[in-house]
Order: sequence, then C-alpha cells, then structure tokens
Amino acid sequence: MKLTDRQWWKEGIVYQIYPRSFQDTSGNGVGDLNGITKRLDYIKSLGVDIVWLCPVYQSPNDDNGYDISDYRRIMDEFGTMEDFHALLQGMKSRGIKLVMDLVANHTSDEHHWFKESRKSRDNPYRDYYHWWPAEKGTPPKRWSYFDVDANAWKYDKTTDAYYLHYFSVKQPDLKWENPKVRKEIYDILRFWFDKGVDGFRMDVIPFISKDTTYPELPQEFGGNFIPFYSNGPRLHEFLNEMNTEVLSKYDVMSVGEAPGVSITQALDFVDEDRKELNMFFHFDLMSLDRDGDEVFWMRKDPWKLTEFKEVHTKWDAVFAEKGWGSMYLSNHDFPRSVSRWGNDSKAHWHHSATLLHTFLLTMRGTPYFYFGDEIGMTNAYFEHVEDYRDINTLNRFELLKDSGISLEDFIANEKKTARDNARTPMQWDSTEHAGFSNATPWIKVTENHKRGINVAEQEKNANSILNYFRKAVQLRKSHLGLVYGSYHLLLKNHEQIYAYTRVYGDERYLILLNFSTEPVIATINEISYTIAELLLSNSNAKKQVGDSNFKLGPYEASVYQLK
Ligand code: GLC
Repeated sequence: MKLTDRQWWKEGIVYQIYPRSFQDTSGNGVGDLNGITKRLDYIKSLGVDIVWLCPVYQSPNDDNGYDISDYRRIMDEFGTMEDFHALLQGMKSRGIKLVMDLVANHTSDEHHWFKESRKSRDNPYRDYYHWWPAEKGTPPKRWSYFDVDANAWKYDKTTDAYYLHYFSVKQPDLKWENPKVRKEIYDILRFWFDKGVDGFRMDVIPFISKDTTYPELPQEFGGNFIPFYSNGPRLHEFLNEMNTEVLSKYDVMSVGEAPGVSITQALDFVDEDRKELNMFFHFDLMSLDRDGDEVFWMRKDPWKLTEFKEVHTKWDAVFAEKGWGSMYLSNHDFPRSVSRWGNDSKAHWHHSATLLHTFLLTMRGTPYFYFGDEIGMTNAYFEHVEDYRDINTLNRFELLKDSGISLEDFIANEKKTARDNARTPMQWDSTEHAGFSNATPWIKVTENHKRGINVAEQEKNANSILNYFRKAVQLRKSHLGLVYGSYHLLLKNHEQIYAYTRVYGDERYLILLNFSTEPVIATINEISYTIAELLLSNSNAKKQVGDSNFKLGPYEASVYQLK
C-alpha cells in the first residue's frame, strides 16, 4: 500500500470528546451520552467526520474512566447501553464515525478479574496481572505515574505479594503474556465492533508487553522508565496478533497513544505491511515545553518555534513513504492548545487560535481536535488545590509535601501543565454553568464563558473562531492535496514564521503562519511561484508587499494556492 492510497481515516477530521465535560442532561453535574446525542447537529456542523470518545465504560473513576471495571457496560453516570445505541445510531445517520477508547494496559482494581486475582495465589485469574511474591524480597524499582510514592509495585497483604501498576494503585497492569488475557481483550474489541463502532484509540498501547523476569531498569535507558515501558520484548507480536485476529476483520481505524516511542521505531507500528496499527500519537511535541524527563514540569526557558518546526518536519519525513501520521496540539491530558502553543491574552487569542486551526488543517497526517478548541477555550488556570480534580495533580501534591517545593511553585506549574486545564465543561453559552448543566458541575466552569468564549455567541459572529474553524475544515475537505500532498519546510531557521508548501501533482499550496506577537515580513524566495489565490486567512489585511514579501500581522495565518 502506498502513502497516498486513499483511506477514510486519512481524510477524516477527528473531534475528541471528554464525555464527563461535554453536556449534562441528567442534572448531576456530569456530562452524559444523551448530552452528546443532543449535540450531534452541532458536531456535524463543524464538518468533522470522526468522533473519538474517551472511556465511557463502567468505572469507579479513580482516573476518570481510564480505570475500567466492566468493559461491556456503560458507566452509570453516563447513561445506559440503550443511550449508547441511540448515540451510535445518531452518528451513523449523520455520517459520523465513532472511535472508542481501549484501555487495556490495565484495568480497575474493581474489575472482576482483579478481585479474583488478588484472592489467592492459585486463583484462576491470578495470572491475569503481574505479581511479585514477597518472599523474593523487594521487587526491582518500577516508576508509577500516579502513585503518591511514584512506586509501581503495591504490596497486597492477602497473598503476601506485590502487584504492578504503572498508573494509580487502583489501575493494576494486565499481563498480556497470558494468552487468556489477550483473548479477553480481543473479545471485547469484537463486542464493540459488532455494535458498529468504527475503531479504537488505544491507551498507552506500547506499555502492554513486559519482561516478566522484572529486571532492574537496564542502563541504556538512563534512568528514564517511559521508553523502557514502551519497548517490551513481545510488543509487536501482540499488536500483530490483535490486528490479525480482530482489526483486519473489520473496516476500522486504530490509533495508539505512544509515549516513549521514538522516530526510529515509528514504522514498526504503522508500516502497513507489518499489520499492526494505522496511526499513533507521538509525544515529541507534548514534551517540548517540559523539563527533560520530568513530564509534568515546565522547562525554565520558553519553547522555540524552530524546535516546534523541527518536531513536525522530522515526523512528517518518517511517514513520507509508508505509514501515516496523526496531528494534535491538545487532548484531555494536556493544557488547552491556544494557551500552550498560541497566546490567550485578549489581544492575541482570536488570531492565535485560528492560526493553530490553520496549522493542523494544512499539515499531512490525520488532524485531531479536542472539544472546545474550536471556540478557543483556554486553560482553567485554577489557583487553589481544592479546585483540581485530577489524580495526577492531587497525588503529586502529596508527593511534593516532603520535597521542599513550595505550594506557590507547585500551583504556578499546574496552571501551565495540569490536565484539568482542559477538562472543564464545554462552554455552550454565557449562562451560569455555561449551558453545560443545570447543576453545579463536577469541575468548575471557566469564567471566560461569560466573555465571548462560548458557542452561542460565536455562532452569531461570522468572524468567530468557531466559524473560522468550519471554513478551515471545508478547505481541507475540498483540497485533497492538503491531505495527501508532500510537505516542504521553508524558512527553517526563522523564529517567528512557520512557512511550508504542500505539493500534490499539479496542486501547490503555500502556508504562512506568524507565531509571534509582532508584525513580520516573510520573504519567500526558496521556491519559484506565482500566487494564484488566497484560499484562507485569519486577517483581512493585504499581505503581499512585493513579489516574494508577505507582511503578516501578529499570529496571522494564510493559505495560498500557487501557480
Ligand atoms: C493515558 C490516558 C490518560 C490516563 C492514562 C492511564 O495516558 O490518556 O488520561 O490517565 O493513560 O490510563
């Protein structure tokens, strides 16, 4: 198969929904499935083709649904299986595809399998999880994302053994080395595919294979557990098996979440001939503004545009012949895109949000938008620990108590990095709870829904971020070259302008993005061209000021067709 072989999941635009925060209809302050169904016409009006739904399965919500206690039931707070069928039907009738979230590296400790597994050493489910018998001493160090002691081994008294949990103590890791576990997962996939689901986003999928001798962290990883976790010995065997047994039998898409996967390993996952996954999310951009291996801490100096360009240029090149990329600037685990990669001050919010939309929609690779970004929702910037709900913030706060870091520094960091920044309720209108719910929402609504950052107001304004988003979506959909065309970086060393062309047969496009708060003249003379047409711009000002000079205002974005 060649790169340009057409596929719906390459041409589709994905809209990610965090169900807890999208729309409450039951009046409990928590979003639900009926809320999404109610908003389907809005979703359709965006022009997106695929919805990725974060987990909606039964869960005690230690990690907001990423801790599943029953893969075949809908979470009570979100509704019923009937509600799910109605949602799926509503999507199908509008031509929208549904991608669900598969969380199979771990389950909840309240899952039936784990409840059994921890009962006795000879329980039939014992080998569904990773256990280390205490008589062997303390197990070799494993780091955990959400543990108050960052320790991934938890001692369990009942059987005098430790179980492994890369995430919270309530998220024990499944043992994929056991063929029975793999069969269970494949059955779950079939259960949802048979209902008509169109694919899965696969949570931390590179972590599923473990060396079950549990060695000390090999030196080559330099103390960093994440790439070690994503390089398990049987990973590709498992992915290939899942593809052969299940994915290949349906017309579905698969996209893995892939922390720790580097460029040199990329094609091992998505080269079509290997029959593993269609796409994955790399983490190179998400770690750009972070402090080295300290994924939850901001680096001290600001990120540079040349670095941002380098990440995208490198990753585009990997998929130049084989595989396919995925493009995202935000999701439920990271701050809001306009606050992070743009500028959410009053002066620059509109232009920088529309610039970022222009960027994602003119790059090669499937674009993924996180709900609310289409109206330029900003970080929550919570000031008080009590406002945070996320286990990641709350547990790190505990961990910190002995570390000497001040509360002030901690909050300053969380305001920029916390996952809750992007988990606040969708801002539908300017009323008390932003049209999200009649009750007090599970997490605070961001105040700026009263000042223009809401759907109702932006619907009325032809120049709103929302309506620009719709225009940019239509531009991509009506120009196949913006999907499949090759990408060429211009002005590589420029710290303010991101400029590139996309080329597809005779079609050529020039994209100019000013990622700065200053007006800049971009001189494009690396290629020869004549401008045929300005296809899209987030500003009305005249830009071309001479044959190869373009004057771009702060955060100005424009897309030209070239001759
Ligand atoms: C992924 C999810 C994140 C979750 C974690 C554990 O990174 O995106 O939200 O907390 O896995 O499941």
